[in-house]
Amino acid sequence: MKRRALIAGVSVTAIAAGCMSMATGPQAIDWNKVPATTVTLFYPGQSSYEWLRSDAHKGASRETARGDACVSCHDDPKEEQIQGRKILRGDHPLEPQAAVLKGKNGHVDVGVQAAYDDKNLYLRYQWKTHDPNHPGADYPGYRFDGKEWKAYGHMRLHKDTLAGKFPPIYENRMSLMLDDGKVSGFAQQGCWLTCHDGERDMANEASKDEVAANPLMMAIKKKDVRKYIPASRTDPSDWRSGKSMEEIATLKAAGEFLDLMQWRAHRSNKAGGADDGYVLEYRNFDGGKNHFSSNLDGKTKQPKFMFDAAKFGGKSFTAADYGKKEIILVKGVNAVPFDPNAGWKEGDILSQYVLSAADASGSAADNKAIGTWKDGMWTVVFIRPLGLANPDDKPLKAGGVYNVGFALHDDNMTGRGHHVSYVKTLGIGAKADIQAVKVN
Ligand code: HEC
Repeated sequence: MKRRALIAGVSVTAIAAGCMSMATGPQAIDWNKVPATTVTLFYPGQSSYEWLRSDAHKGASRETARGDACVSCHDDPKEEQIQGRKILRGDHPLEPQAAVLKGKNGHVDVGVQAAYDDKNLYLRYQWKTHDPNHPGADYPGYRFDGKEWKAYGHMRLHKDTLAGKFPPIYENRMSLMLDDGKVSGFAQQGCWLTCHDGERDMANEASKDEVAANPLMMAIKKKDVRKYIPASRTDPSDWRSGKSMEEIATLKAAGEFLDLMQWRAHRSNKAGGADDGYVLEYRNFDGGKNHFSSNLDGKTKQPKFMFDAAKFGGKSFTAADYGKKEIILVKGVNAVPFDPNAGWKEGDILSQYVLSAADASGSAADNKAIGTWKDGMWTVVFIRPLGLANPDDKPLKAGGVYNVGFALHDDNMTGRGHHVSYVKTLGIGAKADIQAVKVN
């Protein structure tokens, strides 16, 4: 008996080992065995780099300016809950639009688990959507008005949404900003280093004319101001003071930028991907091609693709379908070339973006993801290759410790309407707030 049991034991181990070498990657990970950390994200309103250094940040402007860590003061175990609630309570200067956000949650708990093997880092995120009955995978569309295809829908805080032109429509996103120690101050102040007055939806938002007249914005051909790191400006508190393209190229070559990776419920999930971007003088996408591209033909001003009626149940949809069915246009799945003579009627809507896993390429296509929404909760496994050598990536390696900030866009929000975390450390097999364990 003893002998047989031993033999059986050996053979079971051998079979298990064989299976594991075949089934590798995220599918092979037993997440029940990977420790989970709860990261609380809070609603930051317009708490910019500049606000934090002003007298309005009561008694803390000097400490913040000299680079103290946010959590050196904001250290209550329930700090994020307290702060998010305060900012949304209706009279806080950091949220001038609190009146239209009644009922909004001040914080969100995100479960984070981390694992790695020889090839990849895996981050598994779990969170409950604010609306328990909706995954937040909708995105604004192009609506036919009888003559033209015009943008329809926007985030909750957009002026046209507030004016009642359409309901709030925007995709959920889970983002990670990552520093390998090269961006001065990120370890202490995290994402707030990149959040400035003058940016989209922020205080003193730059006008189109101001942006058009700015040398850096002209050089990078951008029409608005987005996240930037302090080192990209001669005065970090003034978006106008951009350094020269040569100086910015030098910073990039020295690794002075942040990786910014976003999983998107609408524009990346069905293509099995997550964006790969970086923050330096702007929030840039990495080189190559994203998992999503515009569905509008620049010349004809008409959509490029429509739905395959046999697969989607119609060649287009209407406003009433938002929130009722899954509306995601994917090449090779439910998309066919747009037919201008298909008898379009006023009110028909088509997607603003079309997805394709096959078209995604280069550094922009490095990150993969698998996301499912069930019982009011998203579970997303985000996959990042180790050791990337692209000039716009932070190469991750076993033994490395990184500074990270998390952001979640939920409840039809984009831009600043997200929940964010104070900075955490992420260790790949090394001691940190969130520790990735070796698997496979
Ligand atoms: C020297 C201590 C200190 C440091 C460092 C500090 N804060 Fe504060 N912070 C405060 C105090 C005090 C308040 C005001 C609380 C009040 O008005 O009741 C505050 C207020 C805030 C608020 C407004 C909501 C609230 O809780 O009142 C935000 C948001 C905030 N801080 C974020 C940050 C961030 C982000 C950092 C790091 C970049 C930071 N703080 C660094 C002390 C600090």
